[in-house]
Amino acid sequence: RVAVPSSHPHNAVQNTAARRSGPRFVEVMRPMSDKIDTLLKEGRVIQPSARTKAAAHIPDYDQAYKASIADPEAFWGGVAKELDWFTPWTRVLEWNYPWAKWFVGATCNIAYNCLDRHANSWRRNKVAIIWVGENGEERIFTYGELLRQVNRCANALKALGLKQGDRVTIYLPKIPEQVVAMLACARIGVIHSVVYSGFSAPALASRIQDAEARLVITADVGYDRGKTIPLKPVVDAAVQSCPSVEKVVVVRRDALGVALTAPKEIDWTDWLKEQSAVCAAEPLDAETPLYILYTSGTTGKPKGVVHVHGGYMVGTYITTKYVFDLKEDDVYFCVADPGWVTGHSYIVYGPLLNGATILMAEGKPDYPNPGRWWDLIARYGVSIFYTTPTAVRLLMKYGEDWPKKYDLSTLRVLGSVGEPINPEAWEWFYRVTGSDKPIMDTWWQTETGAILVTPLPSVPLKPGSATRPFLGIEADVVDKEGHSLPSNAGGFAVIKKPWPAMMRTIYKDPDRYKVYWNTIPNCYTAGDVCRKDQDGYMWFMGRADDVIKVAGNRIGTAEVESALVSHEAVAEAAVIGKPHRTAGEAIKAFVILKQGYQDSKELIQSLKDHVLKELGKIAVPQEIDIVPSLPKTRSGKIMRRVLKAKELGQDVGDISTIED
Ligand code: WTA
Repeated sequence: RVAVPSSHPHNAVQNTAARRSGPRFVEVMRPMSDKIDTLLKEGRVIQPSARTKAAAHIPDYDQAYKASIADPEAFWGGVAKELDWFTPWTRVLEWNYPWAKWFVGATCNIAYNCLDRHANSWRRNKVAIIWVGENGEERIFTYGELLRQVNRCANALKALGLKQGDRVTIYLPKIPEQVVAMLACARIGVIHSVVYSGFSAPALASRIQDAEARLVITADVGYDRGKTIPLKPVVDAAVQSCPSVEKVVVVRRDALGVALTAPKEIDWTDWLKEQSAVCAAEPLDAETPLYILYTSGTTGKPKGVVHVHGGYMVGTYITTKYVFDLKEDDVYFCVADPGWVTGHSYIVYGPLLNGATILMAEGKPDYPNPGRWWDLIARYGVSIFYTTPTAVRLLMKYGEDWPKKYDLSTLRVLGSVGEPINPEAWEWFYRVTGSDKPIMDTWWQTETGAILVTPLPSVPLKPGSATRPFLGIEADVVDKEGHSLPSNAGGFAVIKKPWPAMMRTIYKDPDRYKVYWNTIPNCYTAGDVCRKDQDGYMWFMGRADDVIKVAGNRIGTAEVESALVSHEAVAEAAVIGKPHRTAGEAIKAFVILKQGYQDSKELIQSLKDHVLKELGKIAVPQEIDIVPSLPKTRSGKIMRRVLKAKELGQDVGDISTIED
């Protein structure tokens, strides 16, 4: 049993007010081959207020959960009936391990459920999206107006000859056109692939190539803390190696106006101008692919996670409704970027399926000052606020005076996602928002499509725990053979039955999909380590594989390493995640130089610049060490866990397979 040094993320945040007396013990993730010790002593339980409980969609979790698990297909079928289908299903689930089909034989369209269902009702003039730009610009879309914009865009896609099954890559900053483009694709069965606009040209190119996208939708520029970030040149560079791309549509934001080369490049406004605002949603088989979203794995190129119209719609709809206890008059603010899965499921699809009013804000939490988000909450009367541990820790650094300046009394439910939220950050978030708004610590993944383990507002909370499985979800902690572990023993987080929003495959790589269901017998393996306490509460402890989470974003070691190795001076490279005060983890690289190159400040900088160019800012290592050799297994695999243990001053564990 190990007490972890203060560099561990759970200990990394200084907050004297929240500190309890006595030594702090935290969870430790030992290498996969070892036993996992869990030492976090987090005893507090926060009961829901009477007001929260009385108002909740699900006032009694235990009862609702039991019923949902007794017959999951009946539960999911019941949920699906709250949405609109063109033709009904004959079976809720067809499970052909590990391949699932949900709502077999049904036809539907997720964009129809996001838009028409509301625009054809009294919600026509309800506000769907309030968008606030980094520069303070504001744009408001009602459901009726959003539907008209989406229809114009869908017609414009059709005019270019795009049809069901074609792929469109969307490389946009956080602007309303991103939502419009996604929904327009969905409306006509075109598959969207959104690529985070912080990725550089080679990373964008590899994602366009894998999807074989016919069209790229981008913008001239993005804004980041007051700086103008050109995006069009990145696309220009990327599409040079993407023969599948026929057209590039550009949203022009900058007053100067970037030059476009006709006929390949089209201005967004011109593209939509002549199009009709009427376009019927295509009735699609429930299993029709909706999008591909690339995410990092341990090895090789990013995985194109595929989600479909029917099941994904059901999963994102009901989780948004129950987890955040969404009501008609809520103002819902999720800070994610639509380039990641949280933006897909919980800015765009889930909230729109519920007919919610969404605040979508461009920019960082501390620009122009650390009151930015608190100000938005007060100004727009936000009632549901979904954020990340990284952002909370960043705001913590600026102190409590910032939130205190604003009226946060409209807030009702809070959310956290992306990585474990350490109890100090949890407590701070809870306190500065008034000590009575429940925090929903939601655990899920790009692959899972929707939230799987989470509290509901009526569930008693334990700071630092994602609590219990969502309705209809059977989650467990098991050993490598799939045996359930006794309470408080650390093991692997698994899901025991299929669920509607699960990914259907990895694009063009079904074998990589199968790995998720074949690693541990009869379960979906998430790749996270976890423990379940005596009350069945789940405590996620991080990744079992080498995936690094920087500011909540998944970064594969393989991508960063191959970027480093593509530098002329580098012979070999290994990267690890290292605890970081605000980002959760930071990337540290170990590099072996080719003969004739010397360690120098300039060389280190040039390596960082190279990764920036190859992958983008989020992947740049914070530290780079030049080393003479790397620890490897006899079969030649780099043992990153050994590097990591040494770096953190921990026991290196079992190194019997090490070569040198
Ligand atoms: C981690 C983000 C602990 C986890 C939605 C998972 C979390 C990975 C939590 C997926 C949480 C996400 N507590 N860990 N509440 N939420 N994770 O695909 O390691 O970007 O496997 O999806 O994030 O990251 P992804």
